[in-house]
Amino acid sequence: LTLYVPRDSAALAVGADAVVDALRAQAAATGTELTVVRNGSRGLLWLEVLLEVATPQGRVAYGPVSAEDVPTLWPVLLADAAGQGGSHPLRQGVTEQIPYLARQERLTFARVGVTDPLSLGDYAAHEGWAGLKAAVAQDSAAILQAVTHSGLRGRGGAAFPAGIKWRTVAQAPGSIKYVVCNADEGDSGTFADRMVMEGDPYLLIEGMAIAALAVGAEQGFIYVRSEYPQAVAVLAEAIERATQAGWIGANVAGSGKRFDLQVRMGAGSYVCGEETAMLESLEGRRGIVRAKPPLPALQGLFGQPTVINNVLTFAAVPTILARGADFYRHYGVGRSHGTLPFQLAGNIRHGGLVEKAFGLTLRELLDGFGGGTRSGRPIKAVQVGGPLGAYLSESQWDVPLDYEAYAAIGAVVGHGGIVVHDDTADLAALARYAMEFCALESCGKCTPCRIGSTRGVEVIDRLVANRANPQVHEQQVTLLRDLCDTMLGGSLCAMGGMTPYPVLSALNHYPADFGLAPAPVA
Ligand code: NAI
Ligand code: SF4
Repeated sequence: LTLYVPRDSAALAVGADAVVDALRAQAAATGTELTVVRNGSRGLLWLEVLLEVATPQGRVAYGPVSAEDVPTLWPVLLADAAGQGGSHPLRQGVTEQIPYLARQERLTFARVGVTDPLSLGDYAAHEGWAGLKAAVAQDSAAILQAVTHSGLRGRGGAAFPAGIKWRTVAQAPGSIKYVVCNADEGDSGTFADRMVMEGDPYLLIEGMAIAALAVGAEQGFIYVRSEYPQAVAVLAEAIERATQAGWIGANVAGSGKRFDLQVRMGAGSYVCGEETAMLESLEGRRGIVRAKPPLPALQGLFGQPTVINNVLTFAAVPTILARGADFYRHYGVGRSHGTLPFQLAGNIRHGGLVEKAFGLTLRELLDGFGGGTRSGRPIKAVQVGGPLGAYLSESQWDVPLDYEAYAAIGAVVGHGGIVVHDDTADLAALARYAMEFCALESCGKCTPCRIGSTRGVEVIDRLVANRANPQVHEQQVTLLRDLCDTMLGGSLCAMGGMTPYPVLSALNHYPADFGLAPAPVA
């Protein structure tokens, strides 16, 4: 009997280890030979713990399973494994045919949940290292050309073309160059980076090794947030195994080039996800934002040219090298090429990971995948792109999810995090929270953010307290807009510079929550 139980944090949090213990106890009691593969998560988070059984028809899923379900499940699992089908309230059918999965376009997440994350054999058997092998057979210029032509843009949120960034580093003078992966995934409602690191770590390693070959770097770092101890442990083990096997280290995939990789853990600061604050932290200092220029691509880690990309950016690269830039470029719309792993969170019935090509709409994600709210109440507001992203009202849910279309409506796609609120949400309170969050997380380097965020909380408090006093109320609205203007234009980084997005979108689209009469949206 071969079973699959995820070792992903999301599954562990809801008792995956207890399920495995119960399965092993059952196997021992019945004398059944049992193999349990600890795979990554399929990303159907409302079904975790998602237990799969190998059957002649493919893997069949059961979920959400708890340890208490195991005794009643056991005979059904055995019947399934023997190809006799089975009937159980938790039975979801053949995993790959569950509509939530079947309707996705999984390129980056093709292996996540399928393979044993640390098995080099499993990775190689599922097209692993094909991108690195292709890269080794090319020169740096050809790799750069492929990444540029694919249209891949930075998946951390800023969407800067990866090929241009890599080329800048490759052409920068200096013999020491670095590749740094930003895995300080701090956006609310996001977990895609974590799922890759825990569920398919060799993919990230492969993408970083390709970047190193492209720019001529011999050392790389993965900066992981401290809240991800499981990801850190999996990565450390994966790096060790990949090095032993010769995929990285002294002779990268037989190329004669060196690339060593290390994991570094953050210390719980949101702003350390900002690339220059992250570099400070990596160098052993407090995470304070550096002024740009100089760009990290020219003077980054320890003052050397450095490629910094998010986990999902590196993780997209092996597919591009293995299948060709045209294959990847063909997905998406406009200038947003490829796929984005969207993350559905908050008050949503079917929260999880949905990888789709750019161009689908928020409504398709919310209704088609998410199935509406978990509370069963109507959706009121959706924050896209993390805590610094705008709140989108229903009138905007049909805008295609692509970087430019979102920018045109004053919103951001960001890292693909989507947090849903039902009609009990108070958008004035959420706007206040945005300012409060900024005040808490500000690195303190520039005034609009350090002081503006605290003043922002006060202004929103006064605004809400004076609903019945039109004159004071109007003054505070003017003040709030003015303050947002200053923060937008005068902040050194996105922390202060984007906090106005949630605040202004809340004010513009939900004026009643601020005690204002509905007005035409600017
Ligand atoms: P940015 O637009 O300043 O830079 C984007 C990237 O391109 C940087 O790596 C920068 O160094 C590089 N770059 C810019 N011009 C370049 C050039 N001419 N040559 C080579 N490289 C160049 O944006 P920033 O401040 O790095 O990121 C802001 C974004 O971060 C926001 O849009 C937000 O969505 C996202 N974000 C993501 C979070 C997450 O958890 N993933 C958390 C918070 C914000
Ligand atoms: Fe620091 Fe905020 Fe200024 Fe960014 S905007 S540099 S986080 S004070």
